[in-house]
Amino acid sequence: MNQQPIGIFDSGIGGLTVAHAICNALPHENIIYYGDTAHLPYGDKSAQAVTEFSIGITRFLIEQGCKLVVVACNTASAAAYPALQEKFGKQVHLLNVIDPMIAHIQQYHAQENIGIIATKGTVNSKVYPNKLASLGITKVNSLATPLLVHLIEEGFSQHPGSRLLVAEYLHQATLKDIEVLVLACTHYPIIKTIIEDYFQHRVKVLDSTLITAASVKHLLTEFDQLNNQTVSGTKQFYVSDYTAAFEQVTKVFWGASIHLEQHNIWKTASN
Ligand code: DGL
Repeated sequence: MNQQPIGIFDSGIGGLTVAHAICNALPHENIIYYGDTAHLPYGDKSAQAVTEFSIGITRFLIEQGCKLVVVACNTASAAAYPALQEKFGKQVHLLNVIDPMIAHIQQYHAQENIGIIATKGTVNSKVYPNKLASLGITKVNSLATPLLVHLIEEGFSQHPGSRLLVAEYLHQATLKDIEVLVLACTHYPIIKTIIEDYFQHRVKVLDSTLITAASVKHLLTEFDQLNNQTVSGTKQFYVSDYTAAFEQVTKVFWGASIHLEQHNIWKTASN
């Protein structure tokens, strides 16, 4: 069981930020990543569609022998996690990117004014304000910032236009007086410094990369399923549709010798 890989998925390159943090925290773990680039963006799709995609990918990752599947996408975590738990919870460990962040906010930022930026799907689900409200944390305002995903997927994160778009979103009245901003989309850590610069470091910007990696480590330790091999873990990347941006970002994180394979599970999967 311990040598089995950790499966990680997202609609595209966003989940690579989480995967990278997991690899750093647990360098001996074997990783299988699935980027559902054929269906990107998830943020504009219905919860039902995102749930169907997530079920197909999770089934694929289980077939690859994964011991744990990390839903490295807030939109899929919001829309599909309960369904995934119900369908696969007895077969495999499952982790989403929302619950570790909620626990972190409860522990460190419960008294502060919290802003959330995310996809339309995540914001419309109200998953963050609802989970926080159940813990008595109510100073929470959310804003959908869907264009940021396109900008990042198109490789524009370092383009000067990114700063304009970030400023356009972040100066909205919804985010006035926030003390903490949660990047509730796994794509956004790629432009985290632009966001921090906009606030001139007066707002604490949180992302789920390290927080999720710590949860993965905690879970595998708890179940005594950490990989005890001494060599570096293998990394296998799948996309449902090849995009140059995916390959480029993967190489930025892991170097030139990555294994990237196009594998469209929708042609074979029967949900
Ligand atoms: N990275 C994803 C998230 O965390 C979704 C981006 C998208 O496909 O819209 O929500």
